Formats: sequence, C-alpha cells, structure tokens
Amino acid sequence: MRKFNLFVTVLFFTGLSSLQAQEKIPFVEDLLQKMTVEEKIGQLNLLTPGGGVATGAVVSENVETKIKAGQVGGLFGVAGPEKIKMAQDFAINDTRLKIPLVFGSDVIHGYKTTFPIPLGLAASWDMALIEKTARIAATEATADGINWNFSPMVDIARDPRWGRIAEGAGEDPYLGSAIAKAMVKGYQGNNLTDATTMLATVKHLALYGASEGGRDYNSVDMSRVKMFNEYLPPYKAAIDAGVSSVMTSFNDVDGIPASGNKWLLTDLLREQWGFNGFVVSDYTSVNEMIAHGLGDLQAVSALALNAGLDMDMVGEGFLTTLKKSLEEGKVSEEQITQACRRILEAKHKLGLFEDPYRYIDAKRPAKDILSDENRKVAREAATRSFVLIKNHKNVLPLKRNAKIALVGPLANNKNNMLGTWAPTGDPQLSVPILEGLQKVAPAARITYAKGANISDDPELAKKVNVFGPRIDIDERSPEKLLQEALDLANKSEVVVAVVGEATEMSGEAASRTELSIPESQKKMIRALVATGKPVVLVLMSGRPLTIAEELALPVSILQVWHPGVEAGNAVADVVFGDYNPAGKLTASWPVSVGQIPIYHSMKNTGRPATSEAFQKFQSNYLDAPNAPLLPFGYGLSYTKFEYSEPSISKKEVAQGESVDITVTIKNTGNYDGEEVVQLYLRDVVRSITPPMRELKGFKKVFLKKGETKSVSITLSPDDLKFYNSQLEFVSEPGAFEVYIGTDSNATQKVTFSLP
Ligand code: BGC
Repeated sequence: MRKFNLFVTVLFFTGLSSLQAQEKIPFVEDLLQKMTVEEKIGQLNLLTPGGGVATGAVVSENVETKIKAGQVGGLFGVAGPEKIKMAQDFAINDTRLKIPLVFGSDVIHGYKTTFPIPLGLAASWDMALIEKTARIAATEATADGINWNFSPMVDIARDPRWGRIAEGAGEDPYLGSAIAKAMVKGYQGNNLTDATTMLATVKHLALYGASEGGRDYNSVDMSRVKMFNEYLPPYKAAIDAGVSSVMTSFNDVDGIPASGNKWLLTDLLREQWGFNGFVVSDYTSVNEMIAHGLGDLQAVSALALNAGLDMDMVGEGFLTTLKKSLEEGKVSEEQITQACRRILEAKHKLGLFEDPYRYIDAKRPAKDILSDENRKVAREAATRSFVLIKNHKNVLPLKRNAKIALVGPLANNKNNMLGTWAPTGDPQLSVPILEGLQKVAPAARITYAKGANISDDPELAKKVNVFGPRIDIDERSPEKLLQEALDLANKSEVVVAVVGEATEMSGEAASRTELSIPESQKKMIRALVATGKPVVLVLMSGRPLTIAEELALPVSILQVWHPGVEAGNAVADVVFGDYNPAGKLTASWPVSVGQIPIYHSMKNTGRPATSEAFQKFQSNYLDAPNAPLLPFGYGLSYTKFEYSEPSISKKEVAQGESVDITVTIKNTGNYDGEEVVQLYLRDVVRSITPPMRELKGFKKVFLKKGETKSVSITLSPDDLKFYNSQLEFVSEPGAFEVYIGTDSNATQKVTFSLP
C-alpha cells in the first residue's frame, strides 16, 4: 500500500502547489486597496431585474439604484447591447470606482440557435460537435452582451424522475467528464479577452442529480466513496479544463447545504482541486438555508461566506447582513476581501477593466445570431442526437415519395421543439416536423392530424404551461381527434406519429413519478397500430421514459429528445435516410419506475441473480427483471456492424503503464454509417466493491457500406484507478476484464492483470 500513498501525496501536492502558484494580479490588488468594505461587499451580489428571462420565483428590486450605490457585482436575465450598455453605464458613470458589471445568463443548449437538449447532445458521443455547439452558443450570447454563462451543468443523474436529467449528460462520470471539458473549451476558448468567449460555470456543486426520490431540490445523502468515484469526476474535469466559476447546488451534502458547506467549497474545491476562480450560489440558495434549518439570514449568509462562497445570486443576504456580521466578528474582512478579489479577477480575465464595453457592439447581433451557418450546425447536432430504438421490419428510412399520415400532438407544433432550459430561444423560430418533412421530401404525400392532446389533464397543463402553451388541450373531443388520425392512417402507406413529453414536463421543478407516454397518446398509438399500417413513433422527451408497452408493439421508434430550433429538418433528414442515425443512450431506460435508480455501473451484490427467472434469496424483483429496458450506450443504425474478437497489447500491465485494446468492425449492412465503439472495464477484485463494469473509453467511427476498420482504445493508468475507502486514488493488483462492443451489454471480452 505504501506505493499508493506516496502517489496520493504527490497528487495532493500538485493541487496545493497550483493554488499557491496562483499569482495575485497587481491591478486587482491596487483596486482592492482603494475599496471600502461596503464597496467590496457590493461586488458580491448578483441581481436579476426581471422583465427579461425569468428563471426563478424572485426578482430583484431597485436594481438601477443598487448599481449606482455600488451594491451590485453583476446582473443576469438582461440581454441585448442596448440594455446591457444602459446597465454598464450606471456602473461606470455613477459609481466611485467605476467597476464594470459582469453579465450572466443560462445558455444551456444554445443561445438563440437552440441545439438539442443536453441529454440529447450527449447521445451523439461526439465531443468535437459538442464543443462546436458551445462555441456557437458563446458567440451568439456574447453578441448580445453576455459574458458569463451558467453552463455546463454536469450533475450525474441516474433517476429519470428528476426533470433536470434533461440538462446534463446522463448517468456516467467518464462520458460526463469528457463532455464537461468540451463545453468549457467551447465557451471559454483560448483567450477570455476575445469578445466571442465567455466565462463558463460548472454546476451544480454538488450531487444535485442524486436528490431523493427524484424530487427537485430534495436532500442528498451519499457516501464519500460514491461521491468521489461516481458523482464528483465531471465537476473536477471542468475545473481541470480551466472553468472560471462554480455554482453551488440547492441540496445538502453530508447534512450541510452546498452553499454553506466549507468542506465542499474550500477543503475539496480549493485546497484539493486547486480551483482559483469564483463560486456563485444558485438562485437564492443562501437564503434557502433558512428553510433548510440553519438559522436566520444573517447566520446563513455568514455561513456561506465562511464556507467559501463568493457571490450571492439574487438573495441579497450578503448585501444586507455581511457588514453587521463583520462588526460582530462573525466574518472577517479578509474573507470579504478574498471573495471580492475572486470576482474582480474574473472581470479582469474578461478584459472588462480595460474596456467595460468590450461585449457591447450593436452590429454583432444581426451578424452573429441565428446565422444560416449556425442553424446548419443545429440541424446536424440534432440528427446526431437521435437514437434509433427499434426499426420494425426495417420500415425506416421511408421512401421519399411515400404516402404518409403524420399524426400526433408534437407533429405540427412549434412550442415544444426547443426543450427545457432554452430561456433565450424563441419557440416560434423552430421548424415543426410537418414543415421539415415537406421541405426535405417534396414528393412525399403527407397528410396531418393532431390525433391526441399531449395530455388530456387540464391540471397538468396548467403546471406545465408556465412559460407558454406547451400542452394545448384541443376544443375537439379526444374521440374526434383520434378519428381524424385514424382516417388518415387508413388512407396512407405508413404512419409517422410524433409523440411524447411537452418541453416543460422535464427540466427544473418538473419531476414525475410516472414516466410513461401520457395515456392520451398511448390510446392513439394502440389505435394506430390496430389499423395494420406500419407505424413509426418519433418520440420526444427530456428524459428516459418507460416504454415497455410501445416497444412490444410492431412499431419503429426513433428517440429525438427535444431537438431544438431545427427540429423538423433534422427529423426529416433521418426519417428519409439522408443521415443514418448513430446516437446512443447515455442514461439507462428502465422497465418500470420501481427499478430506479438504474445504471450500467451497478454493483454485483453478494447475492447476484444468475438467471432471468426469479430466484429466491437472490437479489431480484418478484415483478420486474433487474436489467433496464434499454441499456446505457444503446442505439441502432440503418446498417449493421459486426465486431471481431478484440485483442489486447499485453496481458500483464505494470503500474503506470497503458494498454491498448483493438477490435475490427465491419459495416455489413446497406448504408454508410457511424458506430460508437464502447469499452467497459471490470476490476475483478479490489478493496472496495467494484461496479460490474464501467465505461472507460469510446470512439465514434464512420464506415462506408462494406468497409472494415480497426479501432484501438487505450486504457491509461488513471483509467485503472478508483478512490479507495481512504479516498486515495489508486489502482490495485489483480485481474481486469475489458468488454468492448456496441453498448453496455457488450459481451466480447479480453482480460489482463496488474501484477
Ligand atoms: C437554476 C440554475 C440557474 C439559475 C439562474 C436556478 O434556478 O438551478 O441552474 O443557473 O437558476 O437562472
């Protein structure tokens, strides 16, 4: 064990030394010298004036007066050169030290050019593409004056009841880390003074995706070993990629809400990980510690500052209580100065002291926002995010002159294409599926009927329609709607039914305890199948759904998430075969809600079920299988790929060495196509219980029809490591199994050992 401890010490030291190596910026130090305590406290407040984009229940009051009084460090929910200039003018012309404001926004999956929801983008497994979408998002947002993004959201989510699973990369820390890096790079570029780059924020530290019962904002309780191995890696990856800020989460971690958790914000984040940017709270999350039960506003604000939180989003607890806490000795001036320093350093990184108007250029929006080129990338990204779940009798792709009955509540609908967390996008600019199909295949004979409401439940509609009419309950009766669809189906060669969730059925505060397609649409699907016509379900959702019933029907299923502004064009590209789908699920789809949490890297238990049939005294259910309906990594293609036996570069791998696994794959079907080759590792014996397998590598490759390619994936020394019960990052001697193939059920195996 000594050897490992030595290594750990080195790692820890690297973290510390990078912290110590952080040089103070003379300009910022000079400025701090000139600032009063009140002015320093002023910088620690992030306000939202309302009237623009609403992302929370509370909006700030008297914002202009507060800016002029030097009580504001930044704003969010404001956009456009004119408005941003007006606010910046208040700070520059009306405050003593002329400290510029920073302008934030939630640019989660595109700014005005809305890309697919992040869970969909993740399904592309294409890091270059994801980085490109982030680059475009930054270019568009900065054209509108915004220089700080509240993205990427990297919370691992293994509970699809939680609506915010839509906003991240899914269940896996390895893939999640790769995506975190790509997004930080896309937003921040190589030089933050470039006016097309912006500060990125990794959020929500930490563990927000593990809220109990999948209910938003709920408590989290988790062992350190699980945190370190399974939940923390993507945050750490963003920090290693140079992310400028960190947003805390609403939940508690080990009994202390993240916004007041010193272990999290100082010991781990700064001392161990070497983060030297600034930490912002989530929306009123400092104040929410009152409801969590940690004291009054003064107490929780002092707790947050002392824990290492630098900026208070919306809550104004810092603004209204820190001075008093200072006088009472509950916080130190050094703490206030330190928080202020970090915020000023971020502004300095953006070049705002040199030119507070760097991001304000009235000519940029028209040029940079929603350009044809950006829309082209949105279309491409959407096609790459789609997952072909089932292709019954190879009905897809459709003939370009097919006689199609296009039905379903999402078939000719602009309001639900962008998906959740697209507060800056305009739904009315999105391409509905009907329009896309007509444009891409003008020879197709397409008729359209709505067929069903997304839901017939007016109570649900009320809750979901907070940002606009997402569930629109028709004046016609459900029976009448259905009959119209059936009439068209009977006259067609094929039925395309666009079904699923409205955008706001997932996202923030949109948890569900039932994950099926709403009953109104299920009825329609059953009736369409009963016509005997081939049926293609184009399925939209912000999360894994429970679709066991639909999967068992003789239908084809194309999962398209919420595809973004180019929805219709992208769906048409795939439905007519201009692009062969290659997306792979990044969160397991359960058979039923009772299986949740479910993910590919579960552990074996001491009593693993060894057959599909029920076994008494083994770990299984009376009424459901253990396996998910659709495993992590799953997704079909219009073509077929055949994998050879894998080979390995060595059977014994010394500590510190890498090892290559190689497989040959052949495209044996009738279409060119892409495949995501996935590698899973099992550490057979170790000092803490290992997962049955974990994703540790992947490569996306394109193969022409008939083409064969050899694909090598390297396992690095770090890929063999894990955090042991002392939280040391180690690899331990013993046998390893490597599985390589098309999804997380891959059976092709090679083994090696670490002596
Ligand atoms: C969300 C954050 C978001 C913030 C600001 C909060 O409700 O949890 O993800 O960045 O609002 O809009």
